[in-house]
Amino acid sequence: MSFREHINIDTLPQHIAIIMDGNGRWAKQRGHDRTVGHQEGAVSVRKITEAAVALNLSYLTLYTFSTENWNRPQEEVDRLMALLIEFIALETPTMLKNNVRLKVIGDIGRLPDSTLKALNGCLDKTAACTGLTIVLALSYSSRWEIVEACKKIGKAVAEGNISDVDSINEDTVTKYLETNDMPDPDLMIRTGGEKRISNFLLWQVAYSELYFTDTLWPDFREESLYEAIVDYQNRERRFGKTSEQITNKQQK
Ligand code: IPE
Ligand code: IPE
Ligand code: MG
Repeated sequence: MSFREHINIDTLPQHIAIIMDGNGRWAKQRGHDRTVGHQEGAVSVRKITEAAVALNLSYLTLYTFSTENWNRPQEEVDRLMALLIEFIALETPTMLKNNVRLKVIGDIGRLPDSTLKALNGCLDKTAACTGLTIVLALSYSSRWEIVEACKKIGKAVAEGNISDVDSINEDTVTKYLETNDMPDPDLMIRTGGEKRISNFLLWQVAYSELYFTDTLWPDFREESLYEAIVDYQNRERRFGKTSEQITNKQQK
């Protein structure tokens, strides 16, 4: 029996964010180079995207390469950048077929020109797609994003586009983040066993449900996603209220 049958279509998360961790360990367990893990991880990305399309989710944000990942051995960084180009070339036609739009968040100016070119091509081609939005977090760190937002807000004040410093509120900050046109994640998944956020969407996960699994990313496939969604649907999101308030509201 599949977890798929237990998913309630009426209460699906609108936005799922995933920290795709464990590629290196997956490869090591099999006596392979870490790169093999990244390659197999790309297969999981395809499968999870297809499952997200089938479920009609709106946003899937994938932590693909962090600012801190620039500190990995150059050879691994180069391989990851090349893999990204291969992935985009292979997946763009499927994305168009499935009405999937690409969005990228992060300090993408740091990416090699060839990677940026491939990404920009896909961004252009899929810009008009209205189904699932896949958000790749690339050269991304949440603290970088928040600092950038602070700079932009400062400039807006200096240039008179924000008239009064006291008018700055949570909506202002949200507007200046890379994720400004997206809802916050309802569910954040981390694969690979670690229980940390590693500088991912710190502002946006304020009220996300967190789901940690030991499953390594290359092993995380459709059924694992369904299991995470069922787990999410069995939780009560209270947003600071009491359980009674939530239950009574649902009964009304
Ligand atoms: C996640 O897998 C992929 C990236 C961070 C690019 P890792 O490469 O971190 O795999 P582990 O954690 O070493 O197993
Ligand atoms: C987080 O994984 C970043 C991505 C999945 C892209 P890491 O493997 O880099 O995280 P840490 O170093 O274990 O915190
Ligand atoms: Mg890791």
